[in-house]
Amino acid sequence: TATATQDLLLSRIRDVPDYPKPGVMFKDITPLLADPVAFTALTDALAELCVRCGATKIVGLEARGFILAAPVAVRAGLGFIPVRKAGKLPGATLKQAYELEYGTAEIEIHAEDLADGDRVIVIDDVLATGGTAEASLELIRRAGAQVVGVAVLMELGFLGGRGRLEPALHGAPLEAL
Ligand code: PRP
Repeated sequence: TATATQDLLLSRIRDVPDYPKPGVMFKDITPLLADPVAFTALTDALAELCVRCGATKIVGLEARGFILAAPVAVRAGLGFIPVRKAGKLPGATLKQAYELEYGTAEIEIHAEDLADGDRVIVIDDVLATGGTAEASLELIRRAGAQVVGVAVLMELGFLGGRGRLEPALHGAPLEAL
């Protein structure tokens, strides 16, 4: 059964039919971001998950993941680390390719941002096919850190992202608010 917070969050996500292409129902979080009560409730809930996982660092996934993860990092008193689309980070990076519906994409992390002993939680807005999250877990692992959780606002269950992510989680929780 949904909690009052879940009802509030759900009420602030707008369904946009046929965006970005026909047949797709886009989940628009801008009404949630524009509502300070809902945005604060989301930030608090995600910060609580960070504490529960014993996270020491927060990784946010470009771009909508940044919007959610940054206030959580401030609230939880933890460092924020961006995983960016390829070509955007100026320092030495680790790069990971992943499959899209058509073709591939690449994401990167600054190699020096994570080290052995870091306990990382990954935050994003949506888990769809799981490709982006899976690639980010691989980056974190290659950087020598441990993934202690993945937290998303929404999981589009019918796309099977949870199953795809499972092997890369190594038992860490995947929480969808
Ligand atoms: C969306 C979303 C997730 C990802 C989920 O990002 O914010 O990061 O796709 O899809 P997946 O589970 O199938 O990988 P998008 O690449 O559209 O970028 P944006 O946040 O910059 O709009």
